[in-house]
Amino acid sequence: MTPDRLDLVSKLYQRSAWPRVLEAASGGPSRAPLVVDLDPTTFCDLACPECISGKLLNQSRFTPERLAALAEELVAMSVRAVVLIGGGEPLAHRGTRRVLRILGEAGLAVGVVTNGTMIKQNLAELAEYAAWVRVSVDAGTRETYGLFRPDRKGRSVFDKVIENMRLLAEAKRGALGYSFLVMSRQEPDGRAVTNHHEVLRAAELAYDIGCDYFETKAMFDDDHHIVQVPRKVLESVDRQLAEAARLESATFQLVNSSTLTALRSHIGPVQPKEYDRCRVTELRTLITPSGVYACAYHRGNPLARIGDAVTDDFATIWRDSDRGMVNPSRDCRFHCARHRSNLELERIAQETGRPLLAEDYDPFI
Ligand SMILES: C[S@@+](CC[C@H](N)C(=O)[O-])C[C@H]1O[C@@H](n2cnc3c(N)ncnc32)[C@H](O)[C@@H]1O
Ligand code: SF4
Repeated sequence: MTPDRLDLVSKLYQRSAWPRVLEAASGGPSRAPLVVDLDPTTFCDLACPECISGKLLNQSRFTPERLAALAEELVAMSVRAVVLIGGGEPLAHRGTRRVLRILGEAGLAVGVVTNGTMIKQNLAELAEYAAWVRVSVDAGTRETYGLFRPDRKGRSVFDKVIENMRLLAEAKRGALGYSFLVMSRQEPDGRAVTNHHEVLRAAELAYDIGCDYFETKAMFDDDHHIVQVPRKVLESVDRQLAEAARLESATFQLVNSSTLTALRSHIGPVQPKEYDRCRVTELRTLITPSGVYACAYHRGNPLARIGDAVTDDFATIWRDSDRGMVNPSRDCRFHCARHRSNLELERIAQETGRPLLAEDYDPFI
């Protein structure tokens, strides 16, 4: 049976992760994170009105030389997996190709979250070194794409993105994902616009392109609380996904994010937490040109900033910083995908975790 890649708790029990998982469980500092989210740039060529990082775009930058040196530092620290993402469009930095090569050649697993407009310029490295590439499309037609993912001049570049995905599907070694964030908004003229009716069409397109999976997600507000959607919308999404299920096979999967699952279970926007130390911050961290942050949910939050990787090497930042400044009972009352991982790490500390370790299967814990 293929392991469930959304089961983040089970991933803690992989053999090579275990020494650092034990360090994190103990509540102390770890020698290095296992997974790094890395924003190569804060620049983006699109101007999505709902973008969670909208206020953080187009700020500081890494030079290509600093970005390459940073990749070498991650290798030297035995980081296992890196997700190239943003705040910004990771493929917009001209140094990203080199980062992919450095990390890939060193055997780190690399994931890429991209808007897809610049896949062609990065095609050889993406095809060779990315364990997965997830393209944020959020639409099944050119028109709807233009409403939710316009470029900086308000145009729809849907056709280019889909064409780029076809190129990558042909050449790739890793997995290719089509991601669909369910969104609605009221325009200034009072008109309501939504993309939820295009879930089925988008899933069919993902299948046709040769994607390995199609993922649906729910939206966050600026504070990372899941935006509640009307029941009718959720029912429509579920009907379309039920119809899309006929496309599923060993090579094409429908993936449900934990955010949509939370909406289905009528869990409100608040996810209270009892613990005041996030043990996951010892296992995952976020590096951006505007600062290093203890957690990707706190991108741009000065209270969670642990250093500056533009000026300082990452090993020093990690050694000298205190990730304990984030207090989940106070600072993370939104839905956190790693809440259950934190609860499991507490159990591991109390020696009531699972008795057996698994062989390594997915370093993206
Ligand atoms: C901010 S984007 C940056 C990376 C890249 N430029 C892209 O478009 O994928 C990273 C991910 O955040 C998601 N995202 C953006 N705004 C969001 C929101 N308000 N709520 C939930 N997810 C959001 C996007 O769907 C995308 O998959
Ligand atoms: S959101 Fe809070 S609890 Fe969740 S991983 Fe980040 S710091 Fe930890």
